[in-house]
This record gives sequence, C-alpha cells and structure tokens, in this order.
Amino acid sequence: MHVFITGGSGLIGSAVVAELLGNGHTVRALARSDSSAAALQDAGAEPFRGNLADLSALRAGAVKADGVIHLAFANDFSSPAALAEAVAEESAALAALGEELTGSGRPLVTVSGTPRAPGRLSTEADPLPTDGPVGGRSRSVTAVLDLATRGVRSSAVRMPRTVHNQGTGGFAGLLTHIARRTGVSGYPGDCTQRWPAVHALDAAVLFRLVLENAPAGTAWHAVDDEGDAVRDIAAVIGRRLGLPVESVPAETYGSLGAIFATDQPSSSAHTRQTMGWQPTHPHLLDDLENIQP
Ligand SMILES: NC(=O)c1ccc[n+]([C@@H]2O[C@H](COP(=O)([O-])OP(=O)(O)OC[C@H]3O[C@@H](n4cnc5c(N)ncnc54)[C@H](OP(=O)(O)O)[C@@H]3O)[C@@H](O)[C@H]2O)c1
Repeated sequence: MHVFITGGSGLIGSAVVAELLGNGHTVRALARSDSSAAALQDAGAEPFRGNLADLSALRAGAVKADGVIHLAFANDFSSPAALAEAVAEESAALAALGEELTGSGRPLVTVSGTPRAPGRLSTEADPLPTDGPVGGRSRSVTAVLDLATRGVRSSAVRMPRTVHNQGTGGFAGLLTHIARRTGVSGYPGDCTQRWPAVHALDAAVLFRLVLENAPAGTAWHAVDDEGDAVRDIAAVIGRRLGLPVESVPAETYGSLGAIFATDQPSSSAHTRQTMGWQPTHPHLLDDLENIQP
C-alpha cells in the first residue's frame, strides 16, 4: 500500500514508518519542520510538508494514498487551554482526513488510548471515556469509527499509558522528566495503581496489521504489560537517576494528576487472538533500565 501518515517522526510514528517500509509498503509522511522532513527522508519515507492545522495539506496527503495512519498530536499539557487547543486541532484534522476517504473503502487508522474499567482489566469492547481533559479525543475517535457506515475502513489502535523505546516515552517518560526536574522520583495516588504499557516497536507491528486487515469500525489494544504498578515504575526511575522515591500529591501533576492516580490495567487478549499480534520487545520495567543519569 501507499500509506499517508501523520506523526511519522514521533516515538510511535517512527517505529510505524520503519515497520511499514520493512513490509513492502511505501510511506508519505506529514512533516511540519525541516528537521522532521530530514528525519523522515533518512528513514526512507517521502516527507510531505504541512501541519495538523493545514487541512488542505492533510487532504492532499490523503487523496492519493491507499490508506492513512494518524498519530500526530501536539501533546501540550502545559495548561488546560493548550490541551483543549491540541484536542480541537486533532479533531478537525481527523474530520478532514475522514472526509477525504469517505466512500473509498480505504483504511483510516487512528490512535487512541485504552479505557479504564474499575475493578478489572479493560477490553477492546469497553467504550472510551468522554470525560476529563482528553475526553474530546475520544469523541474524535468515535467519529472516525462511525465513518465505517460511510465507506471508510476506519479503525483505532488504543495505546496503553506508556508506549516506550529505549526507556523513554509515555507516562513513565513524563515521570522521568519530572523526577529530573524536581530531584524526587515521585508517584501519585495510593501507589498501588497500575498502568498498561507496550514497546513502540511492538505497537508498530499492530498498526501495520490493523492497516492491512482490520474490519471497518473496529478498535484494538496495543497492550503488552497489562498493568505495571506505578510505584515499581517510580522505583526504577529513582534507582537509575540516583533519586529518592516518594509519594507526592496527584495535584502536583496538574491536569494529568487525576489520570496519573487512576488504576487502569488493560488487556489485549482479543487483539492477540484476532490479529495474531504477539509482542516480542522488552517490557516497560526492563526498558526503563536504559535511563541514563
Ligand atoms: N507514547 C505514549 O505512551 C502514548 C500513549 C498513549 C497515546 N499516545 C498517542 O500516540 C500518538 C503518538 O505519540 P508519540 O508518543 O509518538 O508522540 P511524539 O513522540 O510526541 O510525536 C508526536 C508526533 O506528532 C507530530 N506533531 C505534533 N504536532 C503536530 C502538528 N501540529 N502538526 C504536524 N505534526 C505534529 C510530531 O512532529 P515533530 O516531529 O515535527 O515534532 C511527531 O511526529 C499521540 O496521539 C499520543 O497522544 C502515545
């Protein structure tokens, strides 16, 4: 397939680009800067200049593609307003990509997050939460899946809280940044909450399988570790950085505090069985050993 991808220069996207190119696909990748364009070119993709706010660029990128994978997100958690702006930008971008593919039968694979299911592992059948600071992202994903009724082979790959590679990425990566800044490897909540995780190289394989095979309107879980206790994550970070490991109030983490403090383990049993997906790369706690002081 000739695939158009957004976010192809990111942690997950760069793994997806390599996975696609390594399996006979060609890739045109949205690039918002010279440095991202150069990185994408070096990776073997065709850079396509534009950004998420440039809807005509997105449509032009998608129009000749056999399939589209969307991963770009501003990831600006600096304030509630900045986050709301990022969510609105992504929503408009997905709507434009969906319009371009309507009636074509071509795949549109978007990224999403695993939901939480109190007292048990969440599954692919659980709905996404539409509350909280990123609830708008869930509504965008639902709108993409609804395009199944309008001739788009739409699907979502739900990511666990930490998608990691070489010890960086996701919520664990944010805890590492905060630990470096504050001198304390903190963990929020009652320290028993668990977060699911996956290595980016394993997540990339699932994106390819879903692009190639997923029926319209379906959601999949890129979950390797069903739930790593956050205190265990903080312990590795503290040891690697030589910092004390302490519980800190959830409010310390601003708009992310409530999400950080929630127990949210997740399963990928249905995805593994149906898609034949089998993660092979290191689990999160092992990968965090790559953190350098
Ligand atoms: N990593 C995780 O643990 C995790 C967990 C759950 C969900 N996710 C979701 O998965 C997706 C990818 O995550 P990631 O970890 O790979 O993120 P990342 O490393 O921060 O990469 C973000 C990508 O989006 C691009 N981008 C950001 N804003 C853009 C804009 N306005 N216009 C065009 N491109 C833009 C970036 O381009 P530049 O290279 O030019 O900056 C980069 O390619 C995001 O939607 C994220 O929320 C990630």
